Amino acid sequence: MIETQLHDDVLEIVMINPPVNALGEGVRTGLDEAITGALEDDAVKAIVIRGSGRLFSGGADITEFSKPPSGPSLPAIIDAIEASSKPVVAAIHGMALGGGLEVALGSHYRVATPKAKLGLPEVTLGILPGAGGTQRLPRLVGVEAALDIITSGTPITGAEAAELGLVDKLSAEETLVEDVIAFARTLDAPRRTGDRSISADPAVFTKFEADNARRFKDLEAPRACIEAIKAAVEMPLDAGQEKERALFMQLVKGDQSKALRHVFFAERAAAKIDGLPKDTQLRPVTKVGVIGAGTMGGGISMNFLSAGIPVTIVEMAQEALDRGTDIIRKNYEATAAKGRLTAEAVERAMNLLSPTLDFDVLKDCDLIIEAVYENMDVKKEIFARLDSIAKPGAMLASNTSFLSIDEIASVTKRPQDVLGLHFFSPANVMKLVEVVRGAKTAPDVLATGMDIARKIGKVPVVAGVCYGFIGNRMLIPRQTNANALLLEGATPEQIDRVHTGFGMAMGPFQMNDLAGVDIGWHRDANRIETLQDALCAEGRWGQKKQAGFYDYDDKRRPTPSPVVDRIIEDFRAQAGITSRTISDEEITVRTFYTMVNEGAKILEEGIAQRASDIDVVWTYGYGWPRHTGGPMFWADQIGLATVVDALKRYEDRLGEGVTLSPLLLARAAEGKPLDR
Ligand code: 3HC
Repeated sequence: MIETQLHDDVLEIVMINPPVNALGEGVRTGLDEAITGALEDDAVKAIVIRGSGRLFSGGADITEFSKPPSGPSLPAIIDAIEASSKPVVAAIHGMALGGGLEVALGSHYRVATPKAKLGLPEVTLGILPGAGGTQRLPRLVGVEAALDIITSGTPITGAEAAELGLVDKLSAEETLVEDVIAFARTLDAPRRTGDRSISADPAVFTKFEADNARRFKDLEAPRACIEAIKAAVEMPLDAGQEKERALFMQLVKGDQSKALRHVFFAERAAAKIDGLPKDTQLRPVTKVGVIGAGTMGGGISMNFLSAGIPVTIVEMAQEALDRGTDIIRKNYEATAAKGRLTAEAVERAMNLLSPTLDFDVLKDCDLIIEAVYENMDVKKEIFARLDSIAKPGAMLASNTSFLSIDEIASVTKRPQDVLGLHFFSPANVMKLVEVVRGAKTAPDVLATGMDIARKIGKVPVVAGVCYGFIGNRMLIPRQTNANALLLEGATPEQIDRVHTGFGMAMGPFQMNDLAGVDIGWHRDANRIETLQDALCAEGRWGQKKQAGFYDYDDKRRPTPSPVVDRIIEDFRAQAGITSRTISDEEITVRTFYTMVNEGAKILEEGIAQRASDIDVVWTYGYGWPRHTGGPMFWADQIGLATVVDALKRYEDRLGEGVTLSPLLLARAAEGKPLDR
């Protein structure tokens, strides 16, 4: 786990723990022994610490957080490094994250490659840097920069770190080790960050917290980070570290951190496809075709263009093609205007785009994604046409959000090459892609679908074929109950408030308005079967019409609508329902627990490979609050027996087709979780 090599009078200590050199017990023990040995060895004048393979270190071993502590503690080792009477230099390449960066902060000097990533991402795991990071970083870079780095968790580059004074010298990756050894040889005394003291106006902290109140919202970790950084200003190192440790211990045991760590591992588990050999050969994807230049087609294209993959986008009419191309350019330019993209990058992306009306041009694409509207006949027609055009081995994907990939594939002579790639709106922003595995989808097609999704920066999850796959299928019982609750006496505001209060990005009716109330509408103003039909019949199609379940002003700010109240009352009268007071608890059970119930069905039917995949779908695709871990983890935390009891209490009201999942009932009875 640790290798050492003496270069004349400089000892090189190498951390070896693939794939990310996590600072697990083995590495810590090795580091501890190597430092102690170096201090005792007169032949050693200076020490260099580096990581093997592609990075310095990805930080503490996160899997150890849920186990009892053993071996030497990381803070103690880092204190020993700082206390060393011989100069210690950290040589950083690849990444130095979390505890990894804290090792470097305890070192007396830091040399990094310009592109290395240095960061303290602990906050994203619901904890704070617990090995001196909150105490040493502000001493080096100042309170304001430290507040940004620690509460955002976003890494900075070696070059940026050099500007901030976090890194002393930059060096090319090829010569890093020899440069650092030579540099270490020139040093004659340690230089301890912990000895420095810093000052800051206390108002800086209150202002920072107030400025970020919305971002931090219900999160415990960012506030604890601020408190710890405050201690760095107010106290000497050891007292500050004690404070940091206490906050760390409190957070690591808390529900938010457990949930966030669950999501971290869930995201990585989702990448694994059951029953697929690890060495499955991927198909090359160097050119992509997209059919449909609407909102989805345009957004999907942008992902590939941004990743440097050429896209041919096909439309039926010149006007639609031009409009779609224009929107892509405008989206890029808006990002550039915010300073997040250079003008050259915009042109580079746009140059990779080939808009055309000629379907036949798709013949040299390796992957073709259909992104036209939801209509089985239209999709079948397109796939039959693709079958006659696409080159052998090309992958044919549909972006359908509900329809059967098997039925779509059945019109081709190559169902093994067909899969679903379900992106979420806005497709250039949302991270989730459901990779839908049809009954005949070939293993290498599925594996390539997962791989290409990751290459364009997405978080892919495998889903089986069913109406709505994982995410949208769970919306069905939620919407059924949300609609029924309106008729029984709740208001859209009350239901949405329960959802946003829980931490959802938006509630069911806000989502209806954003997506378009008219989605899936039969377009017959005289046929009114649902509330949504009634709204559409009155032109209330959602935000785009400034009227849906809410009225919207020019800035898209919603207010409750008396028209909607009237529509609901009419419905109520027709159905002979007397309005009653609806409790928030009932809303929670009928709109959240029914989703958990549907998730359990998705699991028992094998539509999702594992419960945690469902959590990834909801946290990355639907704005489910990450710090609750996703619907399945959340239900496990509540206890499935409690969930089942509550569902049974409302069983007669859950709506047509909503029956309790046998898997949920069984796990609840056994006292076992859904995620295992
Ligand atoms: N501990 C344990 N396992 C880790 C780990 C860590 N810190 N970092 C990564 N892994 C595991 C992953 O789970 C994955 O395992 P798998 O192959 O079994 O699924 C494997 O290492 C490879 O990880 P990735 O697929 O994420 O590899 P990438 O190359 O895509 O990304 C990375 C590398 C950016 C380092 C990314 O793994 C990452 O963000 N890791 C977590 C970084 C982090 O949050 N560090 C802080 C830890 S907490 C801490 O240090 C506390 C301290 O203050 C006391």
